[in-house]
Amino acid sequence: MLVSIAAAGCAGESATDYKPTSTVREVMRSIVDPSSDALWDSVEIVATVEGTVHKMPKSDEEWAVLRRSAVTLVEAGNLLLIPGRLVARPGEPAGDPRSDLNPEEIDTKRRQAPGAWTLRAHRLQDAAAESLKAIDAKDVTALLNAGETLDAACESCHRDYWYRVQ
Ligand code: HEC
Repeated sequence: MLVSIAAAGCAGESATDYKPTSTVREVMRSIVDPSSDALWDSVEIVATVEGTVHKMPKSDEEWAVLRRSAVTLVEAGNLLLIPGRLVARPGEPAGDPRSDLNPEEIDTKRRQAPGAWTLRAHRLQDAAAESLKAIDAKDVTALLNAGETLDAACESCHRDYWYRVQ
């Protein structure tokens, strides 16, 4: 019998070409969380004694810096889909075992229904793409709305894959 190895992409990449060194936990801490914080913190309406102050990107440079975070977040979705990436190092406990699933439990859930995990990662990418579009249009209101879409995308995955207690 002829055994063929299917390539995952047209450029000839296969699952074995990836080197998923970091865990999902580390991708969250180092890439997803800081990039999304940059987007959320970019627009703020703060009440002061002198009146309301609108915090928003102003210079081209500030928009350009923010754009990097949006691009990082769009691509972070792909990082979450790389085959073989574990949620945490073997034996690493849950952050809070009372409220969070153990990393092994999360990995089992992902293995049992890989399509559902993929959907959540794509939802993150779509939300980040909405932010990117707002940034390119320098549209502060759209950026604020995209921030809510983003928050919903994070929570949609966390509800199903991270929290033991809803
Ligand atoms: C496709 C699923 C998925 C999406 C989308 C997702 N996360 Fe996570 N995230 C997880 C999982 C699974 C964990 C639990 C990992 C663990 O056990 O530490 C986690 C954990 C975290 C943690 C805790 C990491 C630590 O130090 O223990 C932070 C912070 C976090 N996510 C932020 C975010 C933010 C912000 C977003 C949206 C911008 C997001 N995540 C989107 C799956 C996701």
